[in-house]
Amino acid sequence: MLPMRVLTTVGEFRAARRQVAGSLGFVPTMGYLHEGHMELVRWARRENDAVAASIFVNPTQFGPTEDLAAYPRDYERDRVLLEREGCDLLLYPAPEDIYPLGFDTYVTVGTVTARLEGAARPVHFGGVATVVAKLFNIVQPDRAYFGQKDGQQVVVVKKMVRDLAMPVEIVAVPTVREADGLAMSSRNVYLGPEERRAATALYRALSRARELHTGGQRDADTLRQAMREVLEAEPLAETEYVSVADVATLDEVPTVDKAAMVSLAVRIGRTRLIDNVLLE
Ligand code: PAJ
Repeated sequence: MLPMRVLTTVGEFRAARRQVAGSLGFVPTMGYLHEGHMELVRWARRENDAVAASIFVNPTQFGPTEDLAAYPRDYERDRVLLEREGCDLLLYPAPEDIYPLGFDTYVTVGTVTARLEGAARPVHFGGVATVVAKLFNIVQPDRAYFGQKDGQQVVVVKKMVRDLAMPVEIVAVPTVREADGLAMSSRNVYLGPEERRAATALYRALSRARELHTGGQRDADTLRQAMREVLEAEPLAETEYVSVADVATLDEVPTVDKAAMVSLAVRIGRTRLIDNVLLE
């Protein structure tokens, strides 16, 4: 196995990319890697001849009051983890290389960005779509891997790729969870011990909705109400939204008669957590 190559500029990455023979799988990340990210790398490894990852904390997807400056970072550890997992190319650019002086072009994805996370974070998906489009242009992958953990992000990226005919296949990888069900997230490090325990309410609420659905319940409000009850029983949890939505349009549905995404956003103390499950 060849050692992983780290490329810190667009030019260097392009030169390395030209030497890749066969298919290239790509895993974009903001670093501070955990098992969820590593699962994406493993999927990319399995399905492609070579694997590229990127680490870039993208400033344009953070709102003015969000945690950009405080976003956790550990480049050395990330580099070792990626190399150990068999990543071939790592793009680790400086902010000025992605957003040079005078940068003034943005990708806007329509209605699917207005709801759920987009309603709470108005600039978020514009930033995600813009950086993902730029990373795709730099990396030129055959396939790109995204976590179902950020379910709306998967919908937005798929929509952008379809609408703009980008030559890349988007693969959604199932959410990797801790033993007690909490979805792995870089933001979990913000949780104190009591909050960490309370955070299990998210997956308990989603599991309750899934149980009811498996038991034949198709009324979406019944599922939403059941999730709210689980969350309300947890004093440290403050619910932002619970949703049962069409998987493609993210419109709230009255009845679950086709594939739906059940999702929620909850504040635990100062930490905002999201999670979702798919109902087929
Ligand atoms: P980041 O939060 O670092 O996540 C990188 C990828 O890892 C995303 O596709 C995310 O959904 C996935 N991921 C995170 N936790 C996961 C888990 N528990 N199980 C499975 N996958 C998980 O998402 C971003 O970065 C950024 O928005 C990015 C796409 C890199 C654009 O800046």
